[in-house]
Amino acid sequence: FPPERVRNFSIIAHIDHGKSTLADRLLEITGTIPTPSSAPGSSGRNQQVLDKLKVERERGITVKAQTASMLHKFGGKWYLLNLIDTPGHVDFAYEVSRSLAASQGSLLLVDASQGVQAQTVANYHLAKANNLTIIPVLNKIDLPGADPDSVEDSVRMVLEIAEDMEIPRISAKKGEGVEALLDLIIEKLPAPTSKLTSSFRSLLFDNWYDTYVGVVCLVAVIDGKVGKGDKIASAGTGLKYEVSQVGIMAPDPMPLLALHAGQVGYLILGMKSSHEARVGDTFYHHGQDVDVLPGFQPAKSMLFAGVYPVDSTEFEKLSEAINRLTLNDSSVSVARETSAALGQGFRLGFLGTLHMDVFRQRLEEEYGATAILSSPVVPYKIIRKGGSEQIINNPAAFPDHSERANVDDIQEPMVRATLIFPEEYLGEMMQLCGDHRGEQEDYTYLDDTRIIMKYRLPMGEILTDFYDELKSLSSGYATFDYDDIGYQSSDLVRMNVLLNSKPVDVLSSVLHRSQAERASKIITKRLKDVIDRQLFEVVIQAEVAGKIIARETVSALRKNVTAKCYGGDITRKMKLLEKQKEGKKKMRAIGNVKLSQEAFLSIVKK
Ligand code: GTP
Repeated sequence: FPPERVRNFSIIAHIDHGKSTLADRLLEITGTIPTPSSAPGSSGRNQQVLDKLKVERERGITVKAQTASMLHKFGGKWYLLNLIDTPGHVDFAYEVSRSLAASQGSLLLVDASQGVQAQTVANYHLAKANNLTIIPVLNKIDLPGADPDSVEDSVRMVLEIAEDMEIPRISAKKGEGVEALLDLIIEKLPAPTSKLTSSFRSLLFDNWYDTYVGVVCLVAVIDGKVGKGDKIASAGTGLKYEVSQVGIMAPDPMPLLALHAGQVGYLILGMKSSHEARVGDTFYHHGQDVDVLPGFQPAKSMLFAGVYPVDSTEFEKLSEAINRLTLNDSSVSVARETSAALGQGFRLGFLGTLHMDVFRQRLEEEYGATAILSSPVVPYKIIRKGGSEQIINNPAAFPDHSERANVDDIQEPMVRATLIFPEEYLGEMMQLCGDHRGEQEDYTYLDDTRIIMKYRLPMGEILTDFYDELKSLSSGYATFDYDDIGYQSSDLVRMNVLLNSKPVDVLSSVLHRSQAERASKIITKRLKDVIDRQLFEVVIQAEVAGKIIARETVSALRKNVTAKCYGGDITRKMKLLEKQKEGKKKMRAIGNVKLSQEAFLSIVKK
């Protein structure tokens, strides 16, 4: 296939607007995968072939971008269409942008019953920034609640679509309009501007680890061709490889003799680990000169959590599991750490909370390892006197009161959030953002009934409950997406939790000063609820800036040590009581507070 007969495209959409369903239909109609036998064409059974991983199927979300090639005849000629699937969730914007870099056009799918949503807008801007040609498509027109006319109006308004541009209407589920969409992809989307005759260059845009063949690299061939047995080199690592297999995903790997300019496919190079496969890297024929492709910014970890084995003897097992999982997801950053309370563990960096949850679930499901994840924190920037900067991703390392004299400024990461919701929830949405230290930037009507609103918010404020609160306050109608907009100075403090005067490292947290008092009351109270009475008094304290700001006490159980003494000997009784007191002191001095595992976890995780 010469480049002019190739189309590389992606489907982008807000979550649940039907990407995977449309991908299935496209693959069925082109004969790439068989149509489900029960009531072909109209069964609407979702095969979701692109959502390979188990967690994806379970959660109904696409996490890892996949790709599939198909053939379609148009104007009497065959075309090769490469569909590059993209994840829909905000956490995976990074995966979206790498998929977009390998394509020239995008279908922007909008659910005709739901209308434009926050991620529709975010994905549209991402595609625009990648210079892609965009075809907006209205999906789910079979639904009784679909209102394609009004949704089309808001699509045209928000996304500034030219009046003369047709917006196709389809039902991905029923297959209606999907065949015509294939023609439209060929007509409207540009072919890759690749040069067949130049020397070989390709962009590595994804990779995964396969147990049988090792690391599989997904590449977009920009120029020239690459075949089995070729000697190629990586511009990023300088490592050299011999190509042991090339092919396309259809949607399972289909080996070919060569991949040509304009095509998207896979290379197997005998890499030892996926850490050699750097997304954004350029491959070229070894010995040739090469203009390195622009590549991508490395994935930026937006939140960090400590990870420890539930049972400390299982550290090796956890370590191995993390190692294997990160082979498949290089966007997770990994560093060793040790906690006085939990022993040896790791500090992992994630792209967002869903990314973290998915990782934990994979860890448990695919490797049977159970792990404790401490509550997530964002990376804080500490600017010290003299100007040196440091990023802190563990509250236990955040400058405490005593170190503050050496600190010039403390900054936290900020986001610009886009919220879309029905107008009746305006009050709740403003309250929610206000409660999370947000500053409104603007708001406008998206259509007759819905508002699109922008806020600046601290990243740390949207990590845990924000999304759930947003959904519950708006009866599920509000949608939300965000962009990272850099750091801003903030009055942040570290809160230490002490048990019998001994700080418990995993319970430290970083808070805005205005929240410290409330948070300290909550945590001391919760600890009091879960700590059983012991033989000695347990004092629970929360400390901020060198001051104890909350305190709870769990009173001691009084073990009746004198029960064994029968009658008379008062001095012996006294001695025993004395000893018991000492025992209490000793225990207190060591700070040996016993807490059930479950109780401890419930606190660490929050
Ligand atoms: P993510 O990959 O998680 O972002 O979701 P998605 O955009 O791939 O959505 P998916 O294809 O999983 O579809 C979401 C739901 O919408 C599924 O229950 C589909 O069956 C349903 N759906 C998709 N297209 C249509 C359609 O044309 N009509 C109707 N009625 N339902 C549809």
